[in-house]
Amino acid sequence: MNSLPNSDLMYFSFNFDAMNNAKHILVTGGAGYIGSHTVVQLIESGYTPVIVDDLRNAHAKSLDGIKKITGKEIIHQPIDVCDLTALEKVFSNYSFEGIIHFAAYKAVGESVEQPLKYYRNNILGLVNVLELAQKFNVKNIVFSSSCTVYGEPENEKVVTENSPIQIANSPYGNTKQIGEEIIQDFIKSGVDCKILNLRYFNPVGAHPSSIIGEFPLGKPNNLMPVITQTAVGKLPKITVFGNDYDTIDGTCVRDYIHVMDVAEAHVKGINWLKNQDKSLVEQLNIGTGKGTSVLELINTFEEISGQKLNWEFGPRRSGDVVEIFADVTKMLNLMNWKPNRTAKDAVIDAWNWEQKLTNDKK
Ligand code: NAD
Ligand code: WQD
Repeated sequence: MNSLPNSDLMYFSFNFDAMNNAKHILVTGGAGYIGSHTVVQLIESGYTPVIVDDLRNAHAKSLDGIKKITGKEIIHQPIDVCDLTALEKVFSNYSFEGIIHFAAYKAVGESVEQPLKYYRNNILGLVNVLELAQKFNVKNIVFSSSCTVYGEPENEKVVTENSPIQIANSPYGNTKQIGEEIIQDFIKSGVDCKILNLRYFNPVGAHPSSIIGEFPLGKPNNLMPVITQTAVGKLPKITVFGNDYDTIDGTCVRDYIHVMDVAEAHVKGINWLKNQDKSLVEQLNIGTGKGTSVLELINTFEEISGQKLNWEFGPRRSGDVVEIFADVTKMLNLMNWKPNRTAKDAVIDAWNWEQKLTNDKK
């Protein structure tokens, strides 16, 4: 593995031939949950990802995992995307065909307590990436946005990319809205660049090999790791937040999408952007189009694992959206992407991954 901002020269002489032919894609945050799965899919599609990730919210193990799955050496630069000088050095060293910008903080609750931490990292990181893309003439960019921009849908629970954007209910959500606005202004300025804002719904699951998956640092907030960690005894029980919502069974409904489908959407996105002639920015939903309630997900897990989960109802969680799922027609029409896996597949892979993590620690 090459982790080497300080040994660039050596690296150049070592990999000179490969670098001439390689189709490099800058992947910021490529060691993280969605990033690591996307890096695998990029490599399997013939790209050479250059991961910029200082591992502030990732394990180095995920880089080993990518190498193990793909059989390829991984290019990793442990750099802070907010460090413009260090990031510029990476842009000088490679000729990127595209950029996927994942690097950001993502914990909603923490963003309410420490908003400036979120604004600094998520906004400054994006501005640096755009500035260097312009300077180094990189024309194809994918930005990690989120369904959080829709807030609580007013009428229809299924949202299209034209559904109204609501006032953000957390500083984290606001960084995604502001990020999309910055990108709109960047494109309006007449810059020669094409950008996709991918609005992910609820990415879950893991690589089917169980070699990479989600490594939540500290106590998880998201439902899927709460379920699997409860099943292995890392957490004592699941509190289901609210049972009196106006939904199929009183619990909240989300669009859980397999992380491998999310990863594939990025490869499709980069391929599609490369074929576009004119500057553009597009918003695209990345979901399954199907809603699943909290209880339905718990039931699916119990069915698959053959194990009863310790769960109980608790009060509603403040700020929770009641019900939302994606209309994904635009992705289908524009780049023939559709999810190939179900929420059940995601539960199977998340469960296998959790068991592997637990066994590895024994
Ligand atoms: P993650 O925390 O697993 O991955 C983010 C990666 O970025 C981490 O590896 C972290 O070390 C790195 N990083 C963060 N700040 C950095 C910095 N300044 N410099 C270098 N590296 C930095 O998160 P994820 O779930 O993979 O999410 C990826 C992106 O997708 C984020 O932008 C997130 O907001 C967005 N998103 C995630 C979800 C979700 O539910 N996971 C949903 C919608 C959108
Ligand atoms: C799902 C459902 C909870 C934990 C978050 C971010 C959002 C986006 C996607 C990044 C909800 C319920 C959860 C638990 C529970 N991320 N739940 N008990 O809230 O849809 O969205 O991830 O952009 O911005 O906010 O995901 O996994 O936290 O919750 O009952 O212990 O599970 O109330 O209904 P959410 P989640």
